[in-house]
Formats: sequence, structure tokens, C-alpha cells
Amino acid sequence: MTSSLPTSLVAALRAARRVAILTGAGVSAESGIPTFRDAQSGLWATYRPEELASPEAFRRNPRLVWEWYAMRRAAVLAAEPNAGHVALAELERLVPTLTLITQNVDGLHARAGSRDPLELHGNITKVRCSVEGTFYATWAEDGDLPPPCPACGAPLRPHVVWFGEQLPTDVLQQAWHAAEACDVFLSIGTSGLVEPAASLPRVAYSHGATVATINLDVRERSEERLFYLHARSGVLLPQLVAQLARA
Ligand code: APR
Repeated sequence: MTSSLPTSLVAALRAARRVAILTGAGVSAESGIPTFRDAQSGLWATYRPEELASPEAFRRNPRLVWEWYAMRRAAVLAAEPNAGHVALAELERLVPTLTLITQNVDGLHARAGSRDPLELHGNITKVRCSVEGTFYATWAEDGDLPPPCPACGAPLRPHVVWFGEQLPTDVLQQAWHAAEACDVFLSIGTSGLVEPAASLPRVAYSHGATVATINLDVRERSEERLFYLHARSGVLLPQLVAQLARA
């Protein structure tokens, strides 16, 4: 685990006008939400993802997919933001411009106080018509599942990006632009295996940003503009914010 933060990373953040941050499942791990690729306890452990998280799966067995998402939605709503989420919300007040980009669908960044996070993969707490795309804040679970759209009768679906689907273009464009324009890019709690999010740190680096990767996979090291910190986000991010807040 990281014992102390590199002073040059803190200095880069202090000098930064624009900061972009990409988060992944690791940031929510300390809220009790399993990461996708955790073989022991991951959400995918007993299922193959393509059986549950694809348009084909939804066509084949809409009820199974709906019920799986309903279970995950309940787990997300029962969870609380952790110290890492809270620190990222505080960081927003300490730097001139911060763009928070997340692959997480749990909505915990917003619940911790982050303003308008860019949710690349959607938000599991939201539901939309699978044909028309209209959002519904409430729906009945006591009849047919998935519940039918009140307007057109098509099944409702979770507002998440499934395997084989495109990311929302406007959200991805904003994320890309933030990566190109930032002075410092933090990649936190993501294995960086899923595109296009995985490219964002490289885009930032190639445009001259300082890039720090924080997760439990990396070997601790740093080069001139690259930092790899092996640390839990719920521990490291409050330390980082405390250091930045010091005059
Ligand atoms: N603090 C920081 N990092 C952590 C913590 C923690 N407490 N716990 C785990 N990690 C790190 C792991 O070391 C790993 O690098 O979080 C990362 C989790 O990686 P993944 O499970 O692959 O999650 P993510 O990168 O968000 O997955 C991307 O893939 O399955 C799809 O759409 C899904 O959004 C998801 C995307």
C-alpha cells in the first residue's frame, strides 16, 4: 500500500487548471459493491456476462435480465458512498475545473455530492423504454416483468450500456474532450480493460497531462509525468484532498 503521496503529484494537482478523473468499480468496492472482475465475489461470478448484459440476452430472456438488474439496483440503493466518493466531491471545490468520468452505473458519485458526473455506462437506478428511450421514474413490479412501457407497451429496460452497444455519443465526446484538455488525469479503481474508457488516460498523456493510476493491480512506481499508486481509493483520496486543502 502507498505510504505517502508523491509530492510532485500533489504539486501537479495544485498547479492544475483542469483535472479529469476516470473511475471504475474499484472506487465503489469499499461501499460493498463487488468489482466486475473479482472472481470470488464479483457480480459476474455465477453468470457469464453475455447471458445477462447484452441486447441478445434481453431478447432471449427479458425476465431473467430484468430480475438480475433489479437485484443489483437494490444492492446499489442499499449501499452508501464511501470516503473515496466523498473526497472526489470535495476535490471539485479545490481545483478550478474538474470533470468526473465514471464507468460505474451505481450513481454513488452523485450521491456523494459530485456535480454531473459523466456516466459512460449509464445508471442502473434509471429505467427507460427499450424502444422509445423514454425515462420512467417509477414502474410497477407486481405484474409482467419487465414492466411494459406505459406509452407503447414495449418492455422497460435498465439505463445501462450493454455489451455490443454504443456508449452515449455526447457523454463520450465530453469525456474525450476533458482528457485532451486536462493538466492532470487520475485513473482510479479501473482495470483499464474496457474500451473506449481505457483509452482516456492515454489520450490525456499524449496531450501532455500528468497521469496517475490508482488501483490494487499496479506496482508502485513513478516516472516524470506518470504515477502508479497501489492504494485503496477510500484511503488515498481523503489523504490527497487533505494535502491539497492545506495552504
Ligand atoms: N481502491 C482502488 N482500486 C480498487 C479497489 C479499491 N478499494 N478495489 C479494487 N480496485 C481496483 C482493482 O485493482 C482493479 O484495477 O479496481 C479495478 C477494478 O477493475 P474492474 O473490475 O475491471 O472494473 P472496471 O475497470 O470498472 O470495469 C470496466 O467493464 O465489466 C465492464 O461495464 C463494466 O464498467 C465496467 C467496465
